[in-house]
Amino acid sequence: MTDSNTPESPCLVIDLDKVRANYRALHAALPTARIRFAVKASPVPEIIRLLNDEGAEFDVASIGEIELALAQGVDPAVMCYGNPIKKSAHIAAAYAAGVRRYAFDTEDDLARIAEYAPGSEVECRFLASAPQSQTPFGTKFGCAPGEAVHLLVRARDLGLTVVGPYFHVGSQQLDPSAWRIGIEQAAAIAEALAVKDIPVSSVNIGGGLPISYVDPAPGLSELGSVIAAAAAQHLPEHTDLVVEPGRALVGNTGVIHAEVVNVRVAPDGRRWVYLDIGRYNGMAETENEYIAYRLRTDRDGDPMAEAVVAGPTCDGDDVLYQRTRVLLPTTLRAGDPVRILDTGAYTASYSSVSFNGFPPLTVHVIGAERE
Ligand SMILES: Cc1ncc(COP(=O)(O)O)c(C=O)c1O
Repeated sequence: MTDSNTPESPCLVIDLDKVRANYRALHAALPTARIRFAVKASPVPEIIRLLNDEGAEFDVASIGEIELALAQGVDPAVMCYGNPIKKSAHIAAAYAAGVRRYAFDTEDDLARIAEYAPGSEVECRFLASAPQSQTPFGTKFGCAPGEAVHLLVRARDLGLTVVGPYFHVGSQQLDPSAWRIGIEQAAAIAEALAVKDIPVSSVNIGGGLPISYVDPAPGLSELGSVIAAAAAQHLPEHTDLVVEPGRALVGNTGVIHAEVVNVRVAPDGRRWVYLDIGRYNGMAETENEYIAYRLRTDRDGDPMAEAVVAGPTCDGDDVLYQRTRVLLPTTLRAGDPVRILDTGAYTASYSSVSFNGFPPLTVHVIGAERE
């Protein structure tokens, strides 16, 4: 699509030129790091092809993402199957497709990798003692740092190639010290492995790089200097840094074009604004009101008042914001367009297939795939 003026509502419009600019800005902020795009953030073919041309690597979470990336011409040698939760059959299929790098965080998964992807490179994900991010993983992933040493020794003994430790400080991480803490812990793991004659070739510092929504986030140059300083101070010389961003590459590249379906004052006395987009067709990250997106209308010059913002389905949980203070024009009416800014990450890819019969969010790209 070249014209974003009249797409059918709701839809996500992604600007490829911004994806390219984000990739280059991250490269400038962390010039020595390898950048591995987390495909799950926006599995859009044009984005994958563009980032492939720019020299990115790819973090893939499933066979579906591997197949998608292969179809865009990505060399499996630059893919890492980064999801620590994977079936034997999927490891075997990834290996057959040429993927030779895997992340893991349990002895079970490691044994499966050794059996179904023999000789492959492995990164061990540990749970860093980082401050909580805006959309936290909790303790779902990552072993204890001491366990990572034990598991990577085991990896070597199973004939796998040890790459190094890996951590993810949680998505939309607003505290730059999180990476310093993770790098310090990764360095301690590398040191313990060195004693056992197991060199670490790279440290994967994960994703989590934030963008500004309603709440501002630290910029890439601040994050880059904290990360570079911690790496220079703590990691052995010649250790590659791998950064695995999703949101930071695509979050600010998308705008959702939505529409007001209804406005009413509910029995609770509050004004409710119902949109044609909600939790199940793209706005999944409003769960727990974690991410406060900026909303724009054509009536933003009119008087503004608080509103509860809800989605279109018959589900009581399909409410975007009822605690977050959202101001919308008092004149807003059914049929009015609403633009939801910075929705390039974790929107279309989270959209349900057809909950309540609402179709998944459609994606349109603008801008040039190649310069
Ligand atoms: C394994 C892995 N790597 C990278 C990312 C990207 O994280 P972010 O979008 O916060 O940069 C995720 C996000 O869930 C992930 O699960």
